[in-house]
This record gives sequence, C-alpha cells and structure tokens, in this order.
Amino acid sequence: MGKRTLVTSALPYANGPIHLGHLAGAYLPADFYVRFKRMREEDVLFICGSDEHGVPITIAADKEGVTPQDIVDRFHEMNKATFEQFGISFDYFGRTSSPVHHETSQDFFKVLNEKGVFKKKSETQLYDEDAEMFLPDRYVKGTCPHCDYAEAFGDQCERCGTSLSPSDLIEPRSMVTGNKPTHKETEHWFLPLGDFQDDLQAWLDSTENWKPNVMGQVKSWLTQGLGDRAVTRDLTWGVPVPLEGAEGKVLYVWFDAPIGYISATREWAQQQGDPELWKKYWRDDASDLIHFIGKDNIVFHCIMFPSVLMSYDGYILPKNVPANEFLNLEGQKLSTSRGWAVWLHEYLKDFEPDLLRYVLGIGLPETRDADFSWKYFQDHVNGELADILGNFVFRTVSFTNRYFDGKVPEAGELTEEDRKVLGEITRLKDEVETCYETFHFREAIQKSMTLARAGNKYFTEMEPWHLRKNDIERCGTVLNVCCQITAALSVIFDPVIPDACGKLRSYLHIDKTGWPDIKEQTLEAGHPVDKGEILFKKLEDETIDAQYRKLEEQTRQQDEQQPDLEPIKNTITFEDFSKLDMRVGEILTAEPVPKSDKLLKMTVDIGVEKRTIMAGIAQHYDPGDLTGKKVIVVANLKPRKMMGIPSEGMVLMAENPDGSLKFLAADAENGSTVS
Ligand code: MF3
Ligand code: ZN
Repeated sequence: MGKRTLVTSALPYANGPIHLGHLAGAYLPADFYVRFKRMREEDVLFICGSDEHGVPITIAADKEGVTPQDIVDRFHEMNKATFEQFGISFDYFGRTSSPVHHETSQDFFKVLNEKGVFKKKSETQLYDEDAEMFLPDRYVKGTCPHCDYAEAFGDQCERCGTSLSPSDLIEPRSMVTGNKPTHKETEHWFLPLGDFQDDLQAWLDSTENWKPNVMGQVKSWLTQGLGDRAVTRDLTWGVPVPLEGAEGKVLYVWFDAPIGYISATREWAQQQGDPELWKKYWRDDASDLIHFIGKDNIVFHCIMFPSVLMSYDGYILPKNVPANEFLNLEGQKLSTSRGWAVWLHEYLKDFEPDLLRYVLGIGLPETRDADFSWKYFQDHVNGELADILGNFVFRTVSFTNRYFDGKVPEAGELTEEDRKVLGEITRLKDEVETCYETFHFREAIQKSMTLARAGNKYFTEMEPWHLRKNDIERCGTVLNVCCQITAALSVIFDPVIPDACGKLRSYLHIDKTGWPDIKEQTLEAGHPVDKGEILFKKLEDETIDAQYRKLEEQTRQQDEQQPDLEPIKNTITFEDFSKLDMRVGEILTAEPVPKSDKLLKMTVDIGVEKRTIMAGIAQHYDPGDLTGKKVIVVANLKPRKMMGIPSEGMVLMAENPDGSLKFLAADAENGSTVS
C-alpha cells in the first residue's frame, strides 16, 4: 500500500436533487481521482453526505409547507441513490442530522469554547417583526454593496462571489414576509479569523500544486485581512449550541457541515467494526486530505474549516482543495428556481452514466466556467466515444472473431509502426497518470482518448482487410497489436467510464484492473476474445431534440409554479384599510387619449355620480370592448392629472407576472360599497 488519502466531496444541501453543475464541480472529478488511486492500490477513503442544516433547508420547507425533516429525509435518500446509480463511488455517504454528527460538532464547539478560541459578542442583527425571527444568511436579500446586484443573499452575492453579512446589504428585505427588517440585539459566538492569519499563511505556503484560481482567492482574502465570523445563529433548525444559556441558538451551518466529513468518517469506521479507524485518516500526518468543492465554497474550506481544525489540535489540514469553477447550461447560468438545469435523476432515465461521465469529464470547469449543451453532448458521444473508442474496439474484436477464430493472433516481427503505436501505451499511461495526480482531469481524459485515436488510425492505415488476403501473417501481427491496445484502453479509461470498461474487459476475458496493467499486461497469442456488443451507440438528433423539449417544459412548469411574484408589502392596520372607499362601477364610454399610446380615458358610473377615470390599459384593451363592463373603483383617491386630464379615481386591476391585466369585477349594482 502506498500513500493514504482521504478524499471528500462537498456535502450537498438536502434541499433538492443533484444537477450537472454539482456533478462537474465536486463529485465527478473526485470520483475520477478516487478510482484512479484505487487502481494504484493506494489507501484512499472517499467521504460525502447530506448537508441537512442551514437556511437553504428551512426555506425549502417553508416554500412547500412541510417540515425541514421531511425535506432532508426526502432528498438525502434521493441524492444518495442517484449518486450510486451514476457510479460516484463514495465509501460512505452520511448526513448531518445523525446523532454522531450532532455529538462530533458539539464536541468541536465545546472544546474550542473551553480553549477560549471564540469571542462572545452582542450585536444588532436584522429582525423580522412579523415573523418574529432574526434574519440570518439567506433569510434576507438585498442589493450587493460591491456590484449592485439586487438579488444578493445575506451571506453571499452570487454574482460577484463576495461573502457578505446581512447588514452589508443595501435595501434589505425579508425572505419570509418581504418586510423591511428592523434591528434587534442578540448575542453570538464568533471565530476571530484574524487570529489565524499567520498560521493559515504558513500552512498555505507549505502546500504545492494548488490551482491558481483557488490560491488566488485565498490569498486575496488574507491580504484584505480576516474578521470575526459568527459561528452560531438564532434559528430552530440545526445542531443546538451545547452550552447553558444558549437556548434557541444553533451552530452556524458552515461551522457544522465541514465537521460532517469527520462524523461521516467516524460512522464509516464504526461500520467497519473498528471505531477508532477514522483517526488514521484525520489525525495522522501520513494522510493527505483533499477537498473537492465548487468555487463558492473556497473560503469555508481554505480559511474557516482549517482554522477550526487548527484550534482543536491534532487534525491534519487539507493538502489540496482543487475547487472547480461553474458549469453553465446552453450558454446561460444554471438556475434551479427557473428550471434551467439538467437533473441527474432525469438524465439517468434516458442515458447510461458513462456518456455523461465522459462528456462532462472532457469539459470540466477546471480553470474557467465551462458550458454544457445537449448538442455538445451529442457531438462528443458520437464523435469520440462511438466513432473513435467504440469503433476501434469493435473493429478489433470483430475482425479477430471473423478471421482469427476469436483468438489473439500470433505476432510476427514488429515493424516501426507497430512499435510506435505500442509505445503510445507507455507514453500515454505515464502522462495520464501525471494528469490525475495533479488534478488535470480534462487532460487525463483527452489523453486517454488519444490512445484510442492512435489505435483507430493504426487500424485504418494498416488495412488488415487487404492484408488478410495477401499476407495473413502480417495481418495477425496487426491484430495482435490492436488487441494489446484494446486491453490497455479497457484499463486506462476505467476511472472515467467504468461500465464500458468492465464490459470491454469481459469481452477480452481479462480481470486485471490495476493501473500498472495498462502497460504490463500482454494478451498472449491464443487468448480468447469475444465479439461482444457495440460499446456506444450513436445518439440520433431526435434523442437530443427530446432533451431540448424536456428543458423547455421544465422552465415552463417552473414559471407556472413560481411566477415572479411581488413580495408582500408591509402590514397595515384595519384602520388603514377602512380608509379606502371602493365602489362597484360600470364603464359607460372609453376612448384613446391623443399623443398617448398607453392611456385610455373612461367615463365610469359609480352610482352616486359619473367619474372621468384615466387608466394605462390602451395596450391591453380595445376601447370598444370596454363599454358596459363592471369594475371596481377606488372612489376617494385624490384626483391626479394624466396628460393634462384629471383622473377622478382608480379602476382596480390584477397584473399577471407576465404583465397582462385583468379587471376586478363584482356583479352588483353601481355604487355598491366594497369591503
Ligand atoms: N452544502 C454546501 C453547498 O452546497 C456545501 C457544504 S460543504 C461542507 O454549498 F463542507 F460544509 F460540508
Ligand atoms: Zn456582488
């Protein structure tokens, strides 16, 4: 056994299903890496689980009108199953609602508190008077002070990536009621990150091979200087703060969630029947810790969690945090609320895991944001998996079956070309290995395909179908070479497309899957080779069109379900309401207003009198269609001039999210009051 490595993927929030953006960020690259390491017979443990606390969970529950527990139970099971079906090979998938996790994270809090690491401070925070709750994190939205984005969250602006505190937001609004928050005093525990500045710097200086985008972000944080971060919240859902006098307070989700990696490792160890085994991975310098995450999680994994680990003492720090950038879809930012996403469980209804593993793999957002499109998916499945890898393998095994009785033919003397193409196996194996070790997965996969390409080209150039007729011995040598390449491909591609590689190895009757076998195994003459099936079928345009329709349908449904509704305005008293005088009226005449394409001028009979009322509805209604229509009029609104004409009231209308208008009407006598 060589090195020991603990690999983690960010714990996904259990508030929704997994989509392609998640996969490309934190899960697929980690799985490639882990599978590669296992093939090298290294001691590697792959840990993940559900992040079940925090505001994203409670907001999802509020939206559906169910409990947070309902939400996490549903999505924990669903995501666990989906990952498994997709071949993400976690050794353990835990959840942060588990008793072991509560205990572990509370222990961290207690130990740090006893060591005097935290500062306890009282400060004013945003408060929603009607909901009677504080508004931490995503419970408040407002304008980002850095980039002016109007939809920034209380903990982070998703446009410019800046991490925020709710009080930084300009014009904050409550996500619960839409209210403008007030301020209220509350007491919390803070992690003074400034105290860790030097130790963090020293640790970062000791690391190697970090991605420039990750190191750049962390360095810029350190240069700006680190402040105090609250590690507790006034919320009901979460791990309770384990101290007397802290009732009603829970640990901040970003304090407890990363500790979830440790809790999950403990649970794994228990499951192995060796409860202390987790320490070998967390509390032993001979282990390497690697966190796979998306770029929005960098600060938590490179500043906050390391500070927590350092304070506790005895824990190793991450060796690398190969965070990825974001994945866009069809040229647009992913948006789950708009339905602009490809869900993994939906994908799996229609396609094999390998296709997506390959296509996402060659286009991972390693150095910059990347784009996924169904057209791209089709092009690369057809152009590479089918036309290069699949084609080469199929030509080799079927030719061997047809003309050599399904047995690897004898190799005669090797020519220059034979040696060259066989040399590619060794060269590419070494290069691919370096790519995997240094987190360059796109390149690892592209280079693996280079071997298939070389094989395919060799087959074409050697023209075994001609050799068969005039030089059967040479033909045998060529096929022998092709069989060796095929065997190498069945191993080198294994981290990426494990199902196809497994099938291929079964045709070739080989069970060697160690990384060194790529070049060390040789199929002897006479070794059986089955004809097998085609590994990858080409994707028809129709199949891809269906995915575009699915995407369209998804966004349409989301629009219907969650139209962009205005937030509810501030509460008024009954007295405020009773000031309104609303009457049933009837439109007698309606005519356009010269020089205005918006306004219509109407005469409305409101029983007690006739009024002239102006309304901005010319683009929605033909004046001729309005006469005789029953409407509701606010009759005591102070008259207001529009295009020089005084408007003596207001006709009530409902505005749909798409901007279309509907009259409010009551089938009652003109002048009747409305209340
Ligand atoms: N749930 C977080 C997210 O989806 C990630 C948590 S990672 C952990 O952004 F380290 F906190 F577990
Ligand atoms: Zn911003």
